[in-house]
Amino acid sequence: MEKTPKRYLITTALPYANGPLHIGHLAGVYVPADIYVRYLRGKGREVLLIGGSDEHGVPIAIRAREEGVSPKEIIDRYHELIKHSFKDFGISFDIYSRTSNPTHYALSQEFFTTLYRKGVFVEQESEQYYDPEAKQFLADRYIVGTCPHCGNEKAYGDQCEKCGTSLNATDLINPKSRLSGAAPQLRATKHWFLPLEQYQAWLEQWILKDHQEWKPNVYGQCKSWLDLGLHPRAVTRDLDWGVPVPLPNAEGKVLYVWFDAPIGYISATKELTPDWEKFWKDEDTKLVHFIGKDNIVFHCIVFPTMLKAHGDYILPDNVPANEFMNLEGDKISTSGNWAVWLHEYLEEFPGQQDVLRYMLTANMPETKDNDFTWREFQSRNNSELVAVLGNFVNRALVLCHKYFEGKVPSPEALLEEDRAVLEMVHAQRKLIEEAIESYHFRDALREYMQVARVGNKYLADMEPWKLWGANPARVASIIYVSLQVTAALCVLGRPFLPFSTDRLEAMARLPKALWDDDLTGILKPGHELGQAELLFARIEDATIERQIAKLQAAKQANEAKGNKPDFPPQKDLIDFETFEALDLRVGRILTAERVPKANKLLKFTVDTGIDRRTIVSGVAEHFAPEELVGKQVSVVMNLKPKVIRGVESQGMLIFAQDADGKLVVVAPNREVADGAGIG
Ligand code: MF3
Ligand code: ZN
Repeated sequence: MEKTPKRYLITTALPYANGPLHIGHLAGVYVPADIYVRYLRGKGREVLLIGGSDEHGVPIAIRAREEGVSPKEIIDRYHELIKHSFKDFGISFDIYSRTSNPTHYALSQEFFTTLYRKGVFVEQESEQYYDPEAKQFLADRYIVGTCPHCGNEKAYGDQCEKCGTSLNATDLINPKSRLSGAAPQLRATKHWFLPLEQYQAWLEQWILKDHQEWKPNVYGQCKSWLDLGLHPRAVTRDLDWGVPVPLPNAEGKVLYVWFDAPIGYISATKELTPDWEKFWKDEDTKLVHFIGKDNIVFHCIVFPTMLKAHGDYILPDNVPANEFMNLEGDKISTSGNWAVWLHEYLEEFPGQQDVLRYMLTANMPETKDNDFTWREFQSRNNSELVAVLGNFVNRALVLCHKYFEGKVPSPEALLEEDRAVLEMVHAQRKLIEEAIESYHFRDALREYMQVARVGNKYLADMEPWKLWGANPARVASIIYVSLQVTAALCVLGRPFLPFSTDRLEAMARLPKALWDDDLTGILKPGHELGQAELLFARIEDATIERQIAKLQAAKQANEAKGNKPDFPPQKDLIDFETFEALDLRVGRILTAERVPKANKLLKFTVDTGIDRRTIVSGVAEHFAPEELVGKQVSVVMNLKPKVIRGVESQGMLIFAQDADGKLVVVAPNREVADGAGIG
């Protein structure tokens, strides 16, 4: 067992103050962080949740330029909006600061100066892109071009958002200035570099050896970075928006946004409490960074190197990064308005923050990208929150009012089945706890809902309403037990559903209880409950259809503007062995026929060079059977056979799907021998 830390410092990625928040932000970073700290507070631990706006960097400068206003105007507007959204959704920050604060300027300059004096930086003149028309250097996102790794034509000078690789502007193929569209020129300029390669060995030890418990997606990304070998990274930029480099003759130069922003965690803590140093400089603090996957490298490699080089600060204990949340099958896109905006959600679902929090937790992209769909949102609400949790709590309270005038009855001797339910509460608490402590929030929520499920089943099995006439004492016990479970649901549910548990607490007039209290004895006999109200309400089809229509309209508007349709984002990386395990070959279709009573399926006989086999494919809406006979196709040979509508399919054919959804055969660009390997 890990020993309990003295205190916790929990940070959340500082979002750029250049746009409103959407569900992807909540699901990736802020809901998990909030669950974690609410749980810790319930345990009575000392914990701070730190957040704030990231107000520097090129995206903000660009947005300001596009709107013809100052960056200050942009950050003021969005800082307030974002701060409000977080508050509205119950993200319980101890401070929500901003990197335009004087404290932050001072601290990040001091940090830079310390590294400078220690001789950490490498000072280097290098060639950087310069826009001759705009008369300005083009850092990071001022420049777009083709990603040398994945061919994405809209990669930025600091990162390709498609494949996640972090780039230098000079890596881009066909670079273009976003200011003037001009092809940029190279000009010499001096910058300060953090020599990451000098920390390679230390990072390998610290991450790859000492932190094997980090999530596989985080560990894997760090490992592939380290395997590629680290290089120096410039921590200064030629820009007019940012924290000025605190050196003489560094005019026109500012700190790189990824240098100053994470220092924002420290400056926000400093702003919050005079005790900030105990959080940042004492090894007994457990520091955890909650972030999205696009921030992994900065939080696991760059910032820790800065902290290590500085020497005064502790390092993170964990960096539980989530993957991305997509929306109805497509990547969330701010510019394409393909998003569910938090401030709009609240207008359309007032008071229903917990429903969204619930859905985003149940579906959290912990290990892979996940999809948010309005249908699932509806069904999780109706069949889980309403039918299980809300229903149980309501029945317990209503039955107590009906039979015992709203006063918790005294139980008679408890029976086996009563004790089993109470013990279940303790067992579930342990499971929830273990899941939260290991950052498995979906599991934690599932174990929590299990408490309500068991409670529901208990009431349904005991049927107290049938016993009232003959055995009121037994009914008293059943209601007593159900009310203890209700109270426990309140305490255990606080991390996930803060608004509903507040309401429940008020409704049942629950005494304050902590996580580790005796959860099955919170309500004493004689305690008077308040009036029962429903915790959750059904969401009707029409409501959901409106949301779906709204998204469709956004998509059409976007396509009308000439934007290309979004293909799904890239799937998670696989290693070479996984790829190599695939057996792909060119086969030839010998026969093709419809499958009776299955209007999507075609059944093929395919010559694979080594055998003739039957393959069933869901392509009948795209091809007439005869048009495929005689064609070469790509075949996945070693997919496990599967019986589809009574026919065993021994492999899979590969098709490409065009933007309009039409399928085309994927075949070599000239005939090859049947059975030729693909690889
Ligand atoms: N603003 C960055 C983003 O949205 C995150 C900054 S996190 C910090 O991707 F550590 F730098 F603050
Ligand atoms: Zn790329």
